[in-house]
Amino acid sequence: MFAASKIQRRAFTASARNLSKVTVLGAAGGIGQPLSLLLKLNPRVTELALYDIRGSPGVGADISHVNTKSSVKGYDASPEGLAAALKGSEVVLIPAGVPRKPGMTRDDLFNTNASIVRDLAKAAAKHSPEASLLIIANPVNSTVPIVAEVFKNAGVYNPKKLFGVTTLDVVRASRFVSEIKDTDPKDENITVVGGHSGVTIVPLFSQSSHPDLSSDAELVKRVQFGGDEVVKAKDGAGSATLSMAMAGARMADSVLRAAQGEKGVIEPTFVESPLYKDQGVDFFSSQVELGPNGVETIHPIGPVDAAEEKLIEACLGDLKKNIEKGVAFVAANP
Ligand code: NAI
Repeated sequence: MFAASKIQRRAFTASARNLSKVTVLGAAGGIGQPLSLLLKLNPRVTELALYDIRGSPGVGADISHVNTKSSVKGYDASPEGLAAALKGSEVVLIPAGVPRKPGMTRDDLFNTNASIVRDLAKAAAKHSPEASLLIIANPVNSTVPIVAEVFKNAGVYNPKKLFGVTTLDVVRASRFVSEIKDTDPKDENITVVGGHSGVTIVPLFSQSSHPDLSSDAELVKRVQFGGDEVVKAKDGAGSATLSMAMAGARMADSVLRAAQGEKGVIEPTFVESPLYKDQGVDFFSSQVELGPNGVETIHPIGPVDAAEEKLIEACLGDLKKNIEKGVAFVAANP
């Protein structure tokens, strides 16, 4: 056991994969700043590249004083700055874009964020075509297909490396359940499938250690619309940023752990998926095992009860439209 882990450690040391450059696009925003800080605290990140259309040199200078080993640079807001931030990156996180205000759905952000994400995806396709892309910008149900289309147009699309970040939905679900059941959220493993907005978010409590909760309509709704609680409380100042930064940092860490050879790393994430392709839904979030090349295994959703079956039906209708909207946007505005 000891010898094996020693050999493995030596193999890792020799591996270029251990040099992990991570790029954040939108690094000076509400999510971008705490996300960048958490990435600075992650020993797997050796180089942190921060880009934004405003303020990234300042955020970079600030975070660079944190005394962990990685190097940090905040790049200028220019095409050259963006190119340099992306070059050689292993993981690119995209929280760039406007957040919701009270009364808005994530789809209301489409008009602004679709072009931001398209343009950043074009730069990534050019300068870091092999990186794993973690899309945080909303509406995730549409921005992920937008990135896929841009990468297809550039001839560099690899479905194993494109992830919509839905981690916050499972973070919320486990937290909300622990509040009801008076447990430690770290012991609550709640599967959430579908997409990342409203009814496309489907928690599968029947698979958890509290199957009774699947009939708790209020809890299901809270998981689906938990983001609204934050939007309302922030009262016009945006949506979840701190909890999202934690969720994004966890997802990035999982991608890096798997890239560095760790086995059994499973995260829920919105990826190109065979699960509902026959119903015209090309992207779907389910438990995904990550590996050195990105997506390793897309797990089926598993057994669900009658209530959950209905939720999935509602999810698929909306999700299909959201995906088509993203694809159509790139076709019309390449
Ligand atoms: P924010 O407005 O505080 O920050 C966005 C940042 O993006 C700003 O610093 C802005 O300058 C930057 N930006 C805009 N256009 C850019 C471009 N072309 N290139 C580089 N940077 C650019 O917004 P916040 O709160 O950080 O939210 C960001 C996005 O994340 C929103 O779309 C929001 O809806 C989404 N979000 C996603 C969640 C998820 O679970 N996936 C959860 C919460 C928010």
